[in-house]
Amino acid sequence: MGEKNTNDRSNRNKDECKGKKNKNEKKTGRPEESTVCTAQEQSSKKKNRKEVAIFGNYRNYYGYRVGQDLDEDPRLRVMKREWFEGKDCLDIGCNSGLMTIAIAKKFGCRSILGVDIDGARIEDAYWTLRKVIRTSKHKVTSMISRSADGASISGLVNNASESLTEEKRKSSGDSPFPLEKDLLEIVSFQKGNFVQNWRPPENTSYHAILCLSVTKWVHLNWGDEGLITLFWRVWMLLQPGGMFIVEPQPWSSYYNNRFVSETAAANYKNIQIPPEDFQDVLLDKIGFRRVENITSSLSGTKSGFDRPILAFWK
Ligand SMILES: C[S@@+](CC[C@H](N)C(=O)[O-])C[C@H]1O[C@@H](n2cnc3c(N)ncnc32)[C@H](O)[C@@H]1O
Repeated sequence: MGEKNTNDRSNRNKDECKGKKNKNEKKTGRPEESTVCTAQEQSSKKKNRKEVAIFGNYRNYYGYRVGQDLDEDPRLRVMKREWFEGKDCLDIGCNSGLMTIAIAKKFGCRSILGVDIDGARIEDAYWTLRKVIRTSKHKVTSMISRSADGASISGLVNNASESLTEEKRKSSGDSPFPLEKDLLEIVSFQKGNFVQNWRPPENTSYHAILCLSVTKWVHLNWGDEGLITLFWRVWMLLQPGGMFIVEPQPWSSYYNNRFVSETAAANYKNIQIPPEDFQDVLLDKIGFRRVENITSSLSGTKSGFDRPILAFWK
């Protein structure tokens, strides 16, 4: 479990720690504070430098995670409707909520709650949710006015909604449920530290729990103990037969973030459970009965984000 070479550093700059590269940087693999920046870029660089995302709580995470040419996160392609449709779901470390909302829309969860340690990301998530609802309503309204041809308004609303849903279902494989107006009742977000003080609503248990690209941050901030707490809490919150979908970052990527804080630097040195052991820990120590690597067929993921996603069944 040794440290990896310094190329990892340049890769991570490219991936999670976005930054503008110049030609020299590409050659040397080292970021250069070069002369090509405009004054505006310099000032935003200074701002970015102050904002160290010690929990992986990047603003605009999805801007650089999902390729510009893609209209959906490629991870959605390996998720199956039957895991979520009509189910109660939890998304740990939801950031600005894009995956949470996309899963609710695409697969028709009964409920999905996104939890994130950073309140600013939760505000972003609600903002995104309102925007998605507003945009979808606009689509329905313009469809109604396009087809307004003598029929009653209420009939048109229903027909338009139905045909839109049907159209969407055919083109994108979306679930007939929910209509966007229901998303506000289905999707919710909460600020909370999942490994310390966050508590679910009373008597809640989940059919599916997602934890995508979060384990490294828990590991660096709370060490092996935090990681095991995360796994135990997931287990406790799952219904029998429920599933845990986890996308662990590889050990090589820890190296690049080990100095985000003193705590992270100290934990990094003491980590005994590398990500390649998570599967054994979840099966043998926590008690999951089955695992599947659901990403074996995934293509189109941006370089640096081609991580395995594992599904465990309780
Ligand atoms: C790299 S982002 C991943 C976002 C999202 N899960 C995805 O993959 O699309 C990691 C997120 O986990 C959150 N996070 C880290 N530690 C957490 C904790 N202990 N409890 C809740 N959220 C946490 C961060 O704030 C950040 O938004």
